[in-house]
Amino acid sequence: MSYETILTDIRGTSDLKTGVITLNRPKAMNALNDQLMDELGCALMGFERDDTIGCIILTGSEKAFAAGADISAMKDYDFQKVYGSNYISRNWETIRSVRKPVIAVVQGVALGGGCELAMMCDMIFAADNAKFGQPEIKIGIIPGAGGTQRLPRAIGKSKAMDMVLTARMMDATEAERAGLVSRVVPLDKLMDEALGAALVICGYGQLSVMAAKESVNRAFESGLSDGVMFERRIFHSLFATADQKEGMDAFLQKRAPNFVNG
Ligand code: HXC
Repeated sequence: MSYETILTDIRGTSDLKTGVITLNRPKAMNALNDQLMDELGCALMGFERDDTIGCIILTGSEKAFAAGADISAMKDYDFQKVYGSNYISRNWETIRSVRKPVIAVVQGVALGGGCELAMMCDMIFAADNAKFGQPEIKIGIIPGAGGTQRLPRAIGKSKAMDMVLTARMMDATEAERAGLVSRVVPLDKLMDEALGAALVICGYGQLSVMAAKESVNRAFESGLSDGVMFERRIFHSLFATADQKEGMDAFLQKRAPNFVNG
């Protein structure tokens, strides 16, 4: 499959592979238009279907993860078009059906829809030059890809309101302190750090990786009792797998486990 607005690559060793997707509209700071979101969805689902891939990294350029939804495309949209064509829902949400871990690797700006896309990933690693923001209010709209929901869950109501209402940007240090990103790494070391984390994840039993992601995500979708019950049932189900036996045997025999993803 050849793409015009993204690049794809497969990194890692022959049995521990990570799919890397790089947003690539450099002249528009990776502004997210329909073509890009369609191609991104296609690439994500391609890696999802590939059994040899254990983890996915989504990144942009040094200057921009993404500067938001494409304003030049959006400026002529009217209500009939966005509602009728299910704008955003029709292709931005594909990432939510990916069951493998997706790491957002953010360098430069992640603004508006760019910040929202990063938040749809499972974790965010940021370069020390990263800046996050939801500046939609400056152009007469509000976040429309989940920003008003995921940002307060990540950083709390007060900071989320501050960002959404004033449109100020948050640097990487503040973003880590606030809980939006999991690691801040010098720009030149960021991709190695992310590939290292991906390799670690690829080394685990992939059923338990999938179950862990599904269970953590449930925390955002349900109340505590329902969430804990969901986790408990998935936890129980992993005792049906060979990898549970192998992981525990290997620990007790003081050797590395040999997971079979089954
Ligand atoms: C379309 C964009 C763009 C965007 C930048 N560009 N952001 N084009 N949509 N979101 C284009 C510029 O028009 C310019 O094109 C080129 O990229 C470089 O941008 P500059 O502004 O010249 O660069 P700089 O001065 O370095 O400023 C960078 C910037 C600024 C701070 C990122 O571009 C900016 O504020 N961009 C808009 C950020 C924003 O409002 N995002 C939210 C969008 S709304 P030319 O052709 O002039 O070189 C949104 C809705 C989400 O995301 C809800 C649904 C998902």
